[in-house]
Amino acid sequence: MRTPHDGLLPSSDRLRLLPLDVTDAESIRRCVEAAGPIDALVNNAGVGLLAPLEGIAMASAREVFETNTLGTIAMTQAVLPQFRQQRAGVVVNVTSSVTLMPLPLLAVYTGSKAAVNAFTESLALELAPFDVRMRLVLPGRAPGTRFGDNARRLMGEGVHEAYADFQQRVFAGVRDTSTPVTHAQDVAEAVWRAVTDPAAPMRIPAGADAAALAAA
Ligand SMILES: NC(=O)c1ccc[n+]([C@@H]2O[C@H](COP(=O)([O-])OP(=O)(O)OC[C@H]3O[C@@H](n4cnc5c(N)ncnc54)[C@H](OP(=O)(O)O)[C@@H]3O)[C@@H](O)[C@H]2O)c1
Repeated sequence: MRTPHDGLLPSSDRLRLLPLDVTDAESIRRCVEAAGPIDALVNNAGVGLLAPLEGIAMASAREVFETNTLGTIAMTQAVLPQFRQQRAGVVVNVTSSVTLMPLPLLAVYTGSKAAVNAFTESLALELAPFDVRMRLVLPGRAPGTRFGDNARRLMGEGVHEAYADFQQRVFAGVRDTSTPVTHAQDVAEAVWRAVTDPAAPMRIPAGADAAALAAA
């Protein structure tokens, strides 16, 4: 996270929080240097954007790709020299089940995550000779996190008139929690499996809804 604050996670002598902005090369350099030897990189930082494309400012689209896509690429690049030299290491990229089944108003977000899927699957072939592994974790809809609140910042205040009714229907569906959803624990377990189980598949769905989509 960009600004770690005390009390967010239980204190432990096995846990150290370091500030990191994945869109800032200097912040990445400082964080990787301060971390010391790394066994696993989990690219989880991400921002959402649920809006009709016509209502999205290009600055917002760029921020989504800067964080979700280029941030993941930059972080991966930053750890690769040590992973390659130690002939070990795992990179886990958290994308989304929306890349398995397209949903409306998510074109920019889905594009940013689908790019990470493709990036990961290609890079895995290039790193296999060095015993460095790449994995994807695809969470389903997780209303228990701050994702929705954080996405609203990029969505702006106004609703595009031509899409207003459609947008309301989609928003109502997003708020509906009567269908299975994903919990943070599901994602943590999928990440743990990706890191610790060399036999884990490349794409690991996380959450009951994501698992159902992956099996369809
Ligand atoms: N919630 C869902 O429905 C859902 C579904 C599928 C996939 N996902 C994916 O799951 C991941 C986690 O999302 P979440 O649901 O936990 O959302 P969240 O509560 O909004 O958490 C997002 C995290 O990313 C960090 N972040 C954002 N920009 C960053 C930057 N430039 N540098 C470093 N950290 C940054 C945020 O920390 P700061 O803002 O403090 O920096 C925050 O800790 C994301 O990749 C998201 O796309 C979420």
